[in-house]
Amino acid sequence: MQAHLSRRAPAARSHTPLSFATVTGSLSGLLALAYQCGCSDPTLEPLPGEATLLGTAAQPLRRTSGRRLFEEETFAGNGRTCATCHGAETGTVAPEDAQRRFQEDESDPLFLHDGSDDGEGQGVTRMLEHATVLVSIPLPPNVSLADDPAARSVVLRRGVPSTLNTPALDPVLMLDGREPDLLTQAANAIRGHAQSPIEPSEEQLQAIADFERSRDFFSSAELRRFARGGPAPELPEGCNESERRGRRFFEDLPPDASLEDGLCAGCHSGPMLDRTNQFLPLPIPVGSRFQTVGVSELNTMGNPVREFLFTAPDGTVTSISSPDPGRALITGELDEGTGTQLNAFKINSLWGISRTAPYFHDNSAKTLEDVVKHYALFFRTVTDPDGPGPQEPAVQLTEQDQADIVAYLRLL
Ligand code: HEC
Ligand code: HEC
Repeated sequence: MQAHLSRRAPAARSHTPLSFATVTGSLSGLLALAYQCGCSDPTLEPLPGEATLLGTAAQPLRRTSGRRLFEEETFAGNGRTCATCHGAETGTVAPEDAQRRFQEDESDPLFLHDGSDDGEGQGVTRMLEHATVLVSIPLPPNVSLADDPAARSVVLRRGVPSTLNTPALDPVLMLDGREPDLLTQAANAIRGHAQSPIEPSEEQLQAIADFERSRDFFSSAELRRFARGGPAPELPEGCNESERRGRRFFEDLPPDASLEDGLCAGCHSGPMLDRTNQFLPLPIPVGSRFQTVGVSELNTMGNPVREFLFTAPDGTVTSISSPDPGRALITGELDEGTGTQLNAFKINSLWGISRTAPYFHDNSAKTLEDVVKHYALFFRTVTDPDGPGPQEPAVQLTEQDQADIVAYLRLL
């Protein structure tokens, strides 16, 4: 495992209990509390000046044509559209979606090409069980495959990240951050996933990007308002004891004696809960977007492991075995000390997370419970540098801690 969280001296912190005194009786007070604790989701009404789907404000035609391009246009390829993999409700595909679609129509284009077991249209097992896609990543000039030295690309199995919130609110695109902008991303998806022989026009790509930033692509009205220049979304307070206990893992707090305060916020911080904060005990800049949390290292999916040879500028060759080295395949760099490159992936936003299962770059966590179970193991491992012995691991997420974290994640 690459990341090591060092043990820290306990730091004092003051508790600010949620005050009910201010909301006694009045209906508006109760509504305010419900909103504050994240229990009510305001409807997605159009904001002032925002185009509706029929188009009342600026660029109505472009938005309508963006919807058509995203949901219906196949660009004369294999029959897929963007919506084949990025559904309207969740922005992604879960195994249950794949199973339902296969029952309804065995020739659904989801199961073609990179959605099939062999990448050539044969076999549906992987899609039905894990909903992963075969993604081909070009190798940087200084990286080669030990078992296939002439290869200039490698095929990896990855989940489909949700298109909720990301297009408007995250400039880092793809699980490894390899696409520079939405237009290039869409052009490559049309060429790659849809196998289109046609070069889409600049206007078409722009229309797709505009549509991906329109009102249907947000997990809540709060996030949509933030994308339109409104206030940053705030962590909900939590309505019950479990949720309120869960909150402390996500607050920007210095580690306490148990190292649990702010444990998740170390990487899931900032308005989008997708960047590192000042309390993460790793020698990397605040606001970093890539990390490893041991998903490739543990490889619970049993994905094929390849041996990658990385040649450093001084000629040193390092051999790395991994099912998916992530960011390191984009930069060609290994930064083993901090784990920021090898097996590192984009730190995902956590807003709307309960809607976008499965989780992690390889879809290894099918539920939020699985995610938190993974973290319990990850933190136990990385905070116990002395290995097995009489000493207790530093971070031990109890069953109750895990349930509290899941309860809180469901509020976001
Ligand atoms: C076969 C399924 C499939 C189709 C079809 C597809 N995508 Fe994707 N999409 C993916 C996968 C898989 C990834 C992540 C791959 C990676 O990071 O290596 C992705 C990533 C993205 C992302 C980045 C999300 C993030 O969190 O960074 C955007 C935006 C996106 N797709 C938009 C589109 C658009 C627009 C189209 C249509 C032109 C499209 N996709 C068609 C599977 C698909
Ligand atoms: C060291 C940085 C770091 C810490 C600390 C951290 N995360 Fe993450 N988180 C990540 C990264 C990186 C990913 C993507 C990993 C991957 O796909 O391989 C991720 C992914 C996730 C996902 C899945 C997102 C998706 O859309 O697939 C969830 C949920 C999540 N983290 C919750 C948590 C919780 C809960 C905690 C605290 C118990 C936590 N994280 C602590 C860096 C971190």
